[in-house]
Amino acid sequence: MADAEPLISAIGAVGSNGMLGLDGWLPWDIPEELAYFEATVAGAALVIGRLTYESMDVVPEDSFIVSRRSDLRLRPGCRRVESVEQGLRAALATGKPVFVIGGASIYAAAWPYCRRFYLTRIEMPFAGDTLFPAEIPLASWDLVSDVAKRYRERKSGREVVCRFRQYEQRQPRPLPMAKKVSAGA
Ligand SMILES: NC(=O)c1ccc[n+]([C@@H]2O[C@H](COP(=O)([O-])OP(=O)(O)OC[C@H]3O[C@@H](n4cnc5c(N)ncnc54)[C@H](OP(=O)(O)O)[C@@H]3O)[C@@H](O)[C@H]2O)c1
Repeated sequence: MADAEPLISAIGAVGSNGMLGLDGWLPWDIPEELAYFEATVAGAALVIGRLTYESMDVVPEDSFIVSRRSDLRLRPGCRRVESVEQGLRAALATGKPVFVIGGASIYAAAWPYCRRFYLTRIEMPFAGDTLFPAEIPLASWDLVSDVAKRYRERKSGREVVCRFRQYEQRQPRPLPMAKKVSAGA
């Protein structure tokens, strides 16, 4: 990878039936999986969909919330952006590692720009209302890490295997330049 090439990563988790969300939160209750997410994104600048943002108790500073609502009120340290591309440019400008943390609509728009995707595959089907976007072609990315751990899923009380996977895309799409606003516009 060239030095100047920005590193953009995405992170998420998905059940074996493709489900990633339920009622504005996760379909499962696996504290160790949540802890892995928090440790991986610690200190990063985050790009977050508005619905996912609203579901989060704690949002770190340098979080960029994608929303078309110009009147959106946000917590300190968060900034609204009008598109995923604007959010990625702003996140890169912080100089921190950049993570796209979902939800589904944001993964669907951001994946072409991502070099890495940290995706935890939870080997159990879950009821839910939000699916991981089927168009993300992870099967054609390089699988560079795959660590399986067994945890208790607290809603069902059952043991479940979580596969912490990292995928890499060889040639992410370059981010488009910001549109120039012409004088008097
Ligand atoms: N399993 C996981 O790893 C994981 C990770 C994250 C989230 N989730 C779950 O996923 C669910 C939420 O996902 P979601 O897809 O429904 O919502 P989302 O992506 O979090 O947020 C959707 C909102 O983002 C804004 N948005 C999306 N695309 C945009 C675009 N191209 N331009 C401007 N704004 C855009 C819109 O906000 P406005 O309506 O304000 O315009 C839209 O309503 C929740 O259940 C959450 O818990 C799961």
